[in-house]
Amino acid sequence: MALLIDGKKISAEIKDELKVQVAELAAKGVTITLAVIQVGDDKASSVYVGNKKKACEYIGVKSLAYELPEATTEEELLKLVKELNERKDVNGILVQLPLPKHINEDAVLLAINPDKDVDGFHPVSVGRLWIGQKGYESCTPAGIIQLLKRSGIEIAGKECVIVGRSNIVGKPMAALLLRENGTVTVCHSRTKDLASVTKRADILVVAIGKPKFITAEYVKEGAVVIDVGIHRMEDNKLCGDVDFADVEPHVSAITPVPGGVGPMTIAMLMCNVVRSAEQ
Ligand code: GUN
Repeated sequence: MALLIDGKKISAEIKDELKVQVAELAAKGVTITLAVIQVGDDKASSVYVGNKKKACEYIGVKSLAYELPEATTEEELLKLVKELNERKDVNGILVQLPLPKHINEDAVLLAINPDKDVDGFHPVSVGRLWIGQKGYESCTPAGIIQLLKRSGIEIAGKECVIVGRSNIVGKPMAALLLRENGTVTVCHSRTKDLASVTKRADILVVAIGKPKFITAEYVKEGAVVIDVGIHRMEDNKLCGDVDFADVEPHVSAITPVPGGVGPMTIAMLMCNVVRSAEQ
């Protein structure tokens, strides 16, 4: 039977480790503050933002919540980001995506001081990651590296195949697996004969946003499969981009959905927030 990679357990361990670090910093008089900005009231975003605030509370970090109306202009948002950049008591700044259509997301992400960019979305953070400099790492792929390491799965020398090339998951995942000395291939919607590529993978990371897309025929016997997708099915159950029941009997390790990659994103955000106090 495949090892079930338990993201709930691993993320709880990480948050507990951070809680200790935050208490040690507090004993030295260092306090940590994360500013979280949400524009509009997108339901999914409100849930994510709520979970981020709860995680801050759990590890002992102060969170400043800015819940701005949908009609907020780009100029107003940029002004707030600038103020938060300048505030000495604010260590990290997070702007929840997506933003309303009338606001240019790239312009807002670019306005965040890279030293406070706990999401790791600023072009400077992305550049630092690719050239091997210290900087903030995008949280979901950083969480996947932790899942692999803390499950005793070696990355160096392995064939790592990523399905999906988004800025938030696929591309930073490639940089991180490369940094860990994996041999990395990135597949996407224009990849020819996808199964022939994914079948090479010792470690297969799937982030395509299509429910149960990856079936046993895409996977090598004994591979490690990481499923980044999350979808609500008609029966109200959650599933990933991987057809778990079909794939699980063939692999050595796999993440479940829910309870795999999902909980790691916030745990890694909290890692970045604690690091932000060291800047
Ligand atoms: N929207 C969906 N995921 C994320 C995330 O990790 N960070 C931010 N800021 N917005 C998101």
